[in-house]
Amino acid sequence: MRSLLFAFALAAAACGSKQPRTPTAAPPPTTPLYDRLGRLDAIKAIVKDFVEERVAKDPRIRARFATVDVAHLEQMLTEQICEATGGPCKYTGKSMKDAHAGMAITEAEWRAFVEDLVASMIRFDVPKAEQDELIGKLATMHDDIVGK
Ligand code: HEM
Repeated sequence: MRSLLFAFALAAAACGSKQPRTPTAAPPPTTPLYDRLGRLDAIKAIVKDFVEERVAKDPRIRARFATVDVAHLEQMLTEQICEATGGPCKYTGKSMKDAHAGMAITEAEWRAFVEDLVASMIRFDVPKAEQDELIGKLATMHDDIVGK
């Protein structure tokens, strides 16, 4: 009797194992943008190129940055991008409202700034999807920066 029960239990278990699995949607790829950009060294290089080779030479906005502490600005932008993209940094600078208060930055200046950043990303071979993703994250700051 015991061996019959055992055989029955085995059969039931085998039967159970043939149950089809409930289909579940494959999870989306979750590699943080931070990693896809190439992590901290890549972000630092992009920011340096952006500040020193694009913004500082862009007649549309360079006057805004004439007296700015370049090393500090690069450090702040690096921390900010690192944090916003899921990296291990903590942004230690001012809020975007405070940093740009009283500047009355225009839409045209905003566009120039974004175009310069895209140019730096292209120079460092950042794929279009990642470019768009970073710009999308920064776009959430638009209303704290423009027209204040
Ligand atoms: C996505 C857009 C932008 C981001 C993420 C951004 C980010 C920052 C950050 C992190 C700082 C440093 C804050 C600190 O020192 O604690 C800063 C400062 C500054 N930003 Fe922006 N910014 C943006 C757009 C602009 C635009 C469009 C302009 C003007 C054309 C501008 C002009 C400045 C200037 C002049 C400073 C230096 C302020 C100072 O030293 O007191 N920013 N920005």
